[in-house]
Amino acid sequence: MRVLSGIQPSGKLHLGNYFGMMKPALALQERSEAFLFIADYHALTSVSDPGILRQATRDVALDFLACGLNPEKTVFYRQSDVPEVLELTWLLSIVTPMGLLERCHSYKDKVARGIPASHGLFTYPVLMAADILAVQSDVVPVGQDQKQHVEVTRDIAIKFNQKFGEVFKIPEPAIHQSVAVVPGVDGQKMSKSYNNTIELFGAPAETKKAIMRIVTDSKTVADKKDPDQCNVFALYKLFATEAEAGAMAGRYRAGGLGYGEVKKALWERMQAHFEPLRKEREALQQEPGRVDRILRQGAARARDEIQKTLKAARRAVGLE
Ligand code: ADP
Ligand code: TRP
Repeated sequence: MRVLSGIQPSGKLHLGNYFGMMKPALALQERSEAFLFIADYHALTSVSDPGILRQATRDVALDFLACGLNPEKTVFYRQSDVPEVLELTWLLSIVTPMGLLERCHSYKDKVARGIPASHGLFTYPVLMAADILAVQSDVVPVGQDQKQHVEVTRDIAIKFNQKFGEVFKIPEPAIHQSVAVVPGVDGQKMSKSYNNTIELFGAPAETKKAIMRIVTDSKTVADKKDPDQCNVFALYKLFATEAEAGAMAGRYRAGGLGYGEVKKALWERMQAHFEPLRKEREALQQEPGRVDRILRQGAARARDEIQKTLKAARRAVGLE
């Protein structure tokens, strides 16, 4: 089975990214052929400062490697090191109906948030389809918000195959329902664009402050509480074992548990989980040459695969 996912270097990675996409994708690397890439062409639709793009690209590479990406197993690369995806984007765009793109929520949401409505932003899902189809992936692990883009990819691949012959495998999205939408500190979906994130490798004091800011209702310590309505519990559950989450849920329902105590437990859990990874990240940061080498080698491996697909697609449409 082949798995592919990507992430835009458009800001600091957070718990929504980690549980929604990184962890499920990294879990699959042991038992499948995984491709993971840094979607820097995509990020250009929203990042206009070249220095920030370079820095964010490096940060995402460090984050993934620190969080357990094994570059021996997983093909880890930077999208722009494989420009063949852009040619494939064009070949796919000729079978992509305008209506399909006009229905994409992500485009409409981004424009509503003030991102300029450029042609690149509008055709973003076709580039994403090219990323996925180029490596003939079977499965695409993503959070709920990206599901529509994977469905668009399937539609495009089916149309291309019908018109020009079987070139592309039809991929499936893989969405873990338990982490489909990780809430932010305000209870909305955690997202860089909502300023409600808890960063994976933020300064500890900032992380603690963010956790203390998580919105709760105004019940007192003595009141009985519903854990399933609580944003703090939703995040705690992501770090706890099933038994621990069950025990905590019991204490919510019994009364006598304050939100402050759960926030403290969440903070301790998060520290215990990310502190060793932070050390790993700091060590990697001292070896920029190593990170460059990993990305270069990943790009070479990805390129081999992608060139094969591109050749088949060029031949199918009559360019070769
Ligand atoms: P953001 O909303 O912060 O800009 P991205 O759109 O770059 O995040 O998302 C990168 C990956 O992380 C995608 O697969 C997305 O589905 C996943 N993801 C982002 N936020 C969340 C969240 N709050 N819950 C679950 N998955 C998420
Ligand atoms: N659009 C995705 C996001 O914003 C990033 C992405 C680009 C991606 N190409 C992809 C994800 C291919 C999965 C597969 O999060």
